[in-house]
Amino acid sequence: MKTEKQSSNTPKRVLITGCSSGFGLLTAVGAAKLGYETIATMRNLNKSHPLKDALKAQNTSAQIEQLDVTEPDSIAAIVEKVGPIDILVNNAGILITSSFLDQTDEEMRQVFETNYFGIVNLTKAFTPGMVERNSGRIVNIASLAGLGGHPFNAAYAASKHVLVGFTKSIRTELAPFGIDVISVEPGYHKTEIIRVNANQSENFYNRQSPMFQWNRGFLKAFLDEIVPRAGEPEAAVKTILMLMAAEKPKSHYVIGKDAKFATILQWLGLGDWLEKKVYRAIRRARRLENKREAEKKARRKQKRRAEATR
Ligand SMILES: NC(=O)c1ccc[n+]([C@@H]2O[C@H](COP(=O)([O-])OP(=O)(O)OC[C@H]3O[C@@H](n4cnc5c(N)ncnc54)[C@H](OP(=O)(O)O)[C@@H]3O)[C@@H](O)[C@H]2O)c1
Repeated sequence: MKTEKQSSNTPKRVLITGCSSGFGLLTAVGAAKLGYETIATMRNLNKSHPLKDALKAQNTSAQIEQLDVTEPDSIAAIVEKVGPIDILVNNAGILITSSFLDQTDEEMRQVFETNYFGIVNLTKAFTPGMVERNSGRIVNIASLAGLGGHPFNAAYAASKHVLVGFTKSIRTELAPFGIDVISVEPGYHKTEIIRVNANQSENFYNRQSPMFQWNRGFLKAFLDEIVPRAGEPEAAVKTILMLMAAEKPKSHYVIGKDAKFATILQWLGLGDWLEKKVYRAIRRARRLENKREAEKKARRKQKRRAEATR
């Protein structure tokens, strides 16, 4: 896969959201290295050190700006400060894990505010400048979860589904203005969203919930089976950088072995088989968690008895 070096006479201006870690950080460094005039944004500038260090290590630079995609004032300020731009990479995203039954209305809305409305609002703010110049590119980082379901991350999957629908719809609207709109659907990759940013719902450990054991089963299956097999983010970022410059980009790109495998199964009509496989893995993990919990309880009881007879 080729990533094109930018001509030094006409460097394109690219703005990327969510550059404090993961895909955003790596895309910002890669874009700067390729000669793009790179505007790397993040909601909390106190988290800019990893990006600064990575830019320095690659002997390159980027303009680092504050942008919270859920804040209208923050969006207005960035457009005023850095617009117009040639390429917008809508990368910022969050997830909040638990059964949908345990998720509060506020949590579900928070996921949509970031993963969907944040992108819609930022895109609306930057697109008029692209329309005026009859040129532009918008790259939306969706997810494999936006093509299929994702148990225990229903709000996340739903937000990515609507993002894919939004991308496909505005792609046709903006085509007459020379603006390409593309979505990418990565599978699991080793970034902070599956580590420190893997937020759990505040009711995740609510013992009164009928989903209590299933939430824990999912978490165990996730940690034991998904996280160790997740792909390296550099591979995904290579595709993002490639399609920032691709002459005739396709409407969407599935990234990662797991995502490609799941997509092929869907094509073959084997989506239900995969769904059952996921269900069995969570059920197995739930049993193991229950066993571990029962053993812990028995050990505590034994200890109390031993102390009482001393
Ligand atoms: N890694 C995967 O397995 C995977 C798979 C499919 C899709 N994706 C998607 O890839 C994108 C990037 O995620 P990642 O994997 O690189 O995870 P990450 O390392 O957690 O990065 C997420 C970034 O989004 C930022 N962010 C969150 N809310 C924001 C807001 N309101 N305004 C601006 N920035 C905000 C985070 O900033 P803070 O540091 O301030 O929280 C962080 O910089 C997301 O859209 C995610 O859904 C990831």
